[in-house]
Amino acid sequence: MRVGLLGVGRLGATHAATAAALPDVTELRIYDADPERARMVAAPLASAKVAATVDEALDGAYAAIVVTPTDTHAPLIMRCLDSGVATFCEKPIAIGIAETQAIVDHVARTAGRLQIGFQRRFDSGYQRARAAIRAGELGTVYSFLMVSCDRTPPADAYIATSGGQFKDQFIHDFDITRWLLDDEVEQITAIGSARGFPTYEAMNDVGTSAVMMRMKQGTIGLATALRHNEAGYDIHVEIHGGKDTIAIGIDPRTPWRSMEADAPAFASPPYPSFHVRFADAYRAELAHFMRFARGERENPCTAADALEALRIAEAAGRSFRERRSVPLTEIA
Ligand SMILES: NC(=O)c1ccc[n+]([C@@H]2O[C@H](COP(=O)([O-])OP(=O)(O)OC[C@H]3O[C@@H](n4cnc5c(N)ncnc54)[C@H](O)[C@@H]3O)[C@@H](O)[C@H]2O)c1
Repeated sequence: MRVGLLGVGRLGATHAATAAALPDVTELRIYDADPERARMVAAPLASAKVAATVDEALDGAYAAIVVTPTDTHAPLIMRCLDSGVATFCEKPIAIGIAETQAIVDHVARTAGRLQIGFQRRFDSGYQRARAAIRAGELGTVYSFLMVSCDRTPPADAYIATSGGQFKDQFIHDFDITRWLLDDEVEQITAIGSARGFPTYEAMNDVGTSAVMMRMKQGTIGLATALRHNEAGYDIHVEIHGGKDTIAIGIDPRTPWRSMEADAPAFASPPYPSFHVRFADAYRAELAHFMRFARGERENPCTAADALEALRIAEAAGRSFRERRSVPLTEIA
């Protein structure tokens, strides 16, 4: 199967290596706006070739993988779908609700195949947690805590086109909350700060924030995110039910220095980056995408799912800016 891959930056380079290693990918055509970068990423991959244009990358391709900056996703998705190519695109589809809705509508109109990259759905910890909740092992789920820490902040150029912390970083938490709990966010309250990052303030963004969510069934959640914590790339969750509490992503080699007496200290964090933390999930996600492209599997993460996650992010941004709690019904 020939696959076109657009964008080989921080994550695209990893997706290129992962896709090239999949048994059903016979040729990977890589296009990046920076041709030198495309050459560097393609060089060690036996099945990879560099394409000079988007059209050349998509020519004869059965599937496409889009890992370009967020503000370029929507037109590239349209182009892929209009060429009849099954498409995987990294989160989020776009920064705006209207642009995202246009993609949802286009998928419906063209019966296009579009899978969105929310890889936590493919992480074994999240999958086991969802199964435990569905099996009733926690009893009634009352509350949850989610923590997302980048180890080092992304480049300012990335932040500028990312949509900001609520749409870029928290969007994973919003997607996985819906997926884990089989429930929808009803109301959201967000606070944030650009402490330590004056450049974020200039971009109307924040680097540290907290979001409180009330779910329709009454579960209460708190998610916090920050862009800089050298203890390690840390994504973890606690879920508290009447019968039990479970945790996801708390590595037994805990990345934190414990303040308890006699606790061991660890010299280096277990997860240096998202590439390591979610390596297995990214592999499973792209392997699933190839089967979805062939019509052998259901779409595990649709454009409509991405729109719902973006609506929650939009509400969080509004709550932060207007300093009030926002019901999701306000977001069209
Ligand atoms: N799922 C995850 O865990 C995760 C993690 C990081 C990033 N992402 C998402 O992946 C996307 C890319 O993020 P990144 O960190 O790799 O960004 P990046 O800035 O490191 O890389 C983007 C690459 O795309 C290239 N590019 C820019 N415009 C292009 C175009 N029109 N056509 C082809 N190539 C183009 C750039 O030259 C660069 O090499 C973003 O949408 C981001 O939200 C997802």
